[in-house]
Amino acid sequence: MPALVLLGAQWGDEGKGKATDLLGGSVDYVVRYQGGNNAGHTVVVGDQKYALHLLPSGILSPDCVPVIGNGVVVDPAVLLSELRGLEERGVDTSKLLLSGNAHLITPYHTTMDKVSERFLGKRKIGTTGRGIGPTYADKINRVGIRVQDLFDESILAQKVEAALDQKNQILAKLYNRRAIAAEQVVEELLGYADKLRGYVCDTTLVLNDALDEDKVVLFEGGQGTLLDVDHGTYPFVTSSNPTAGGACTGSGVGPTRIGRVIGILKAYTTRVGAGPFPTELFDEDGEKLRAIGGERGVTTGRDRRCGWFDAVIARYATRVNGLTDFFLTKLDVLTGWERIPVCVAYEIDGRRVDELPYSQTDFHHAKPVYEMLPGWSEDLSGAKTFEDLPKNARDYVKALEEMSGAPVSAIGVGPGRDETIQINPFL
Ligand code: GDP
Ligand code: IMO
Ligand code: MG
Repeated sequence: MPALVLLGAQWGDEGKGKATDLLGGSVDYVVRYQGGNNAGHTVVVGDQKYALHLLPSGILSPDCVPVIGNGVVVDPAVLLSELRGLEERGVDTSKLLLSGNAHLITPYHTTMDKVSERFLGKRKIGTTGRGIGPTYADKINRVGIRVQDLFDESILAQKVEAALDQKNQILAKLYNRRAIAAEQVVEELLGYADKLRGYVCDTTLVLNDALDEDKVVLFEGGQGTLLDVDHGTYPFVTSSNPTAGGACTGSGVGPTRIGRVIGILKAYTTRVGAGPFPTELFDEDGEKLRAIGGERGVTTGRDRRCGWFDAVIARYATRVNGLTDFFLTKLDVLTGWERIPVCVAYEIDGRRVDELPYSQTDFHHAKPVYEMLPGWSEDLSGAKTFEDLPKNARDYVKALEEMSGAPVSAIGVGPGRDETIQINPFL
């Protein structure tokens, strides 16, 4: 069975955690391939709510092996505390596999993230402050620390010293901050070695062997397409590749082994942090979406910026990810509007534009061109089949599907595992 990728089609928080968890019972492996604990994936199982940051959402399914791939950046303190938190709630975490090639977020990366944001002032990105950008920067700069370095004290010390030689200059001279002592960082990191050792392995080998044995492997993206460092709204992006190609580089599984790419798409749009957002609402509709949709960040607690559905973005996500399906989430949140605006194109400096402009300047000038779709007043949460939805909700889904370029194969009508309408099976 070829592997599946499940990723965010917008700016994150589309409901990836719920969608992954839904499939968790039927897949053998769930793999995070990029990002780190900047992610916040909420999973609701019965009356239990879980907020996962670093662990793949498959960890909540007893027979599924959760994997943290080489493309992820791992804050060991966060990982251990997340594992402890789940164990205290009776979740078996012993099957976790952690790539020895994943890079570590150290205290100096988190410090650099925070001070550089402060330095940017009103030009800041609005990062989660979790050290993500600086850790990926070190990886690309070839001065990063990897999980496997925890098991060789001398190499670890050399690498930390080399990294800090440079960073301490920056911290002291540019940011007016105290230097960070290498020995202290090494000591802290060594303290994690024994606690993590049992999870660490060659995840690339494990995943390729699993695929050879016809096991089902699901890749769970963090963030979303428009936050991708290559394909997103740069520079207001995260520092990794949540798009489909990232699943390959972030796991060591080749593209020929992936058969399906599912884009998780919210029935409206949200964004956290700075950056352009053409359909953003600043009125009571925006407030209403935020209140009904519970649009508050799982990681930072920040209010999410809210706006109407943007079909230009959905089409773009189909294109850059090669999407085969959409999972449309939070349709239930749109109950209660008489008419629902949907952005079908942009007006940029007097021109109509149907595709996402590659130019940052153009995108900053993009004004949404709206089409009005009729709303509905019925509560959708009990709907089990597509036919259970009121006609206007069905028409809304069909219209979005047509505009977005891939079939809507599942619809979320509530946060719970069973509050899903499956139209085409994913497996
Ligand atoms: P992720 O980062 O993509 O996993 O998404 P988040 O967990 O950050 O945000 C999605 C939120 O929407 C969570 O609170 C989910 O429990 C909730 N959610 C997911 N799907 C649905 C849905 O279909 N309807 C409703 N009402 N809530 C949903
Ligand atoms: P999930 O997986 C929404 C945003 C931050 C900021 C930008 C860069 O829950 O969808 P970073 O800390 O990554 O350097 O911040 O990216 N961001 C997210 N927004 N959902 C997320 O994750 C995000 N992870 C990062 O708000 O604008
Ligand atoms: Mg989230």
